[in-house]
Amino acid sequence: MIDEVRQARDAALVRVAASCTPDEVRAVDAEVLGKKGPLAGLKTGLGGLPVDDRKAVGQAINEAMTAVRTAIDERSACLRSEQTTARIAAERLDLTEVVTRQRRGHPHLSTQAWERLEDVFVGLGFQIAEGPEVETDFYNFEALNMPRSHPARSGFDTLFTDYNPDGSVLLRTHTSPVQIRVMREIAPPIYMVMPGKVFRRDTPDATHMPVFHQIEGLVVDRNITMTHLAGTIDAFTKAFFGGGFSSRLRPNYFPFTEPSAEFDIRRPDGTWIELGGCGMVHPNVLRAGGLDPEVWSGFAFGFGIDRMARERHGVDDLRDMFSNDIRFIEQF
Ligand code: PHE
Repeated sequence: MIDEVRQARDAALVRVAASCTPDEVRAVDAEVLGKKGPLAGLKTGLGGLPVDDRKAVGQAINEAMTAVRTAIDERSACLRSEQTTARIAAERLDLTEVVTRQRRGHPHLSTQAWERLEDVFVGLGFQIAEGPEVETDFYNFEALNMPRSHPARSGFDTLFTDYNPDGSVLLRTHTSPVQIRVMREIAPPIYMVMPGKVFRRDTPDATHMPVFHQIEGLVVDRNITMTHLAGTIDAFTKAFFGGGFSSRLRPNYFPFTEPSAEFDIRRPDGTWIELGGCGMVHPNVLRAGGLDPEVWSGFAFGFGIDRMARERHGVDDLRDMFSNDIRFIEQF
């Protein structure tokens, strides 16, 4: 009888150890320790035994039941904690991974150059203004001392809108019309830069785009001279490019400035970058802006923003900057 008790106990322990989930353990529990289980069956057989044996076998059965009970409790505690560990692992969120996978955009090369130029000019004491991209003939040409018949107009390859068939509404060919708008809007002294998008009828190639960006500068005050212009260009050059760079003016012609000049920047290695045009604001332009040329004088300059970005990053082909190829754009 004692042997039967041991066998029943060992069989029960094997089943407990083989259970893989808390539910299985619960099922084994009901089966082996329940009223119809093997140990309970042996207990009911005790009545038929001699009194001396009954005591020893009864004790063996109780010990066997306690051993199985302990094994069941341990097994189910162990399985429950395994289950919890697995669930925590499955629910884990790797937040660092999410951040590195997130793709964030950044300003375009030309926007970066635009913003840096604004920063430098604000640092030199200038304010910033912007004008409309669709302009009238008056602001783009007429007020800038280029009446209808002026030959310089043809140099601008103008794109006209069909809003007014007479050609009086156009896409601005330069940022200079904003000079007139600023003069008409605010009283001198004026120290202003005017960045923006401009348009010309051009076939795109490595150095030309039909849409590009310029930044215009306008100073109007009393007793402004060409020296102020040259000094401002040079201060800008050193602030934007660095102390190793210098600038020069070369005589040129623009209808809206007199005298007029081109300005070039000298790299530390002695080579030159042609940057833009400048000059003393023409008396007719001051008048078109509502100012008396006997009282006020000024200078103006204008140059390409995209060219600055190209120069800074060594971009060979301007078209790469605007073809929206993410593999190119992402690099800057
Ligand atoms: N508007 C001229 C251009 O687009 C540049 C310029 C601006 C020249 C101001 C003189 C003064 O070429």
